[in-house]
Amino acid sequence: MINDKKVLYSGMQATGNLTLGNYLGALKNWLDLKDEYECFWGVMDLHSLTVRQEPAEFRKKARNLLILYIAAGLDPKENCIYFQSHVSAHAELSWLLSCFTYMGELNRMTQFKEKSAKHSDNINAGLFTYPVLMAADILLYQADYVPVGKDQKQHLEITRDIAERFNSIYGDVFTIPEPYIGKGGAKIMSLQDPLKKMSKSDENVNGSIYLMDDADTVVRKCKRAVTDSDGEIRYAEEKPGISNLLEIYSSCSNISIADAEKEFAGKGYGDFKLAVAEAVNAVLAPMQKEYERLQKEKDFIDGIIKENDEKAAYIANKTLRKARKKLGLTEKPR
Ligand code: TYM
Repeated sequence: MINDKKVLYSGMQATGNLTLGNYLGALKNWLDLKDEYECFWGVMDLHSLTVRQEPAEFRKKARNLLILYIAAGLDPKENCIYFQSHVSAHAELSWLLSCFTYMGELNRMTQFKEKSAKHSDNINAGLFTYPVLMAADILLYQADYVPVGKDQKQHLEITRDIAERFNSIYGDVFTIPEPYIGKGGAKIMSLQDPLKKMSKSDENVNGSIYLMDDADTVVRKCKRAVTDSDGEIRYAEEKPGISNLLEIYSSCSNISIADAEKEFAGKGYGDFKLAVAEAVNAVLAPMQKEYERLQKEKDFIDGIIKENDEKAAYIANKTLRKARKKLGLTEKPR
């Protein structure tokens, strides 16, 4: 608990262009929960290094991600929005926790298997220990809840296992976090291959709607979305394309899938796709406008970064000191 509130922790990698999947699976839930909890939102730039980055572009992308969090409606005065790499406790706790994590556990991680298949020329140790750093992120802030999309559930499970293992030896050092997976939008699929997750690293740009796509691009991508030939707008396993569009429509318009089905009963796919695009654009437009405005507010953003880095470091270092002490590492003379 911080300020009598439960703690919520989450973040995104500062890589690639954020997609509608990132928004509906994560950011939208963060916005819903932000007032109820003491929240920490990280720009996960250390995790991004598991894949090669072009330094100048990477620096820009990480800063832009922080700006996007604010443009979407997260409040850097009420909650903490900061860079993971600015708080050295993340890397330090990650090392300590790696000594409590088994190779076999990490070997089972689906994301590791997928990423190593995709980047077979660069299967680095960071890619393998990625979940340990993620566990450190979460445990440093004694988080009660971690709102993520479905694809991160396994990483939450290993975080809990590591924390429980550590606590069983040293007492209650870490809060055991619960994943928070939203009802709608937890797994948005590619518009071009609705059996595959919408992903910022997809080579086919038509499969993903990016948060910075302009209105015409969104319309074009929705029109091109792969569907089926049965002509009925209903949610069903055998209709992954239409089901995905229904999921997007209902999440963007804040209505249930059942109500969306009713709204489009008897209508054609063409009209439906246009309505989906409109619903998406209604979400993206205000965010993009605010993002453009904030880009010009350099001093304000710099101030936010400084203030929030300190806020994050204060909490993180408290937990790190506790873990170090329990482990028997020599204390630094004051
Ligand atoms: P990342 O950057 O891949 O994704 C950020 C968030 O977006 C969600 N997401 C999706 N949700 C629904 N449909 C999709 N198609 C979709 N694609 C992505 C992800 O589930 C995630 O919630 N490892 C994390 C970053 C991270 C983190 C943390 C998260 C590092 N440390 C500590 C929480 C707590 C990641 O790669 O997310």
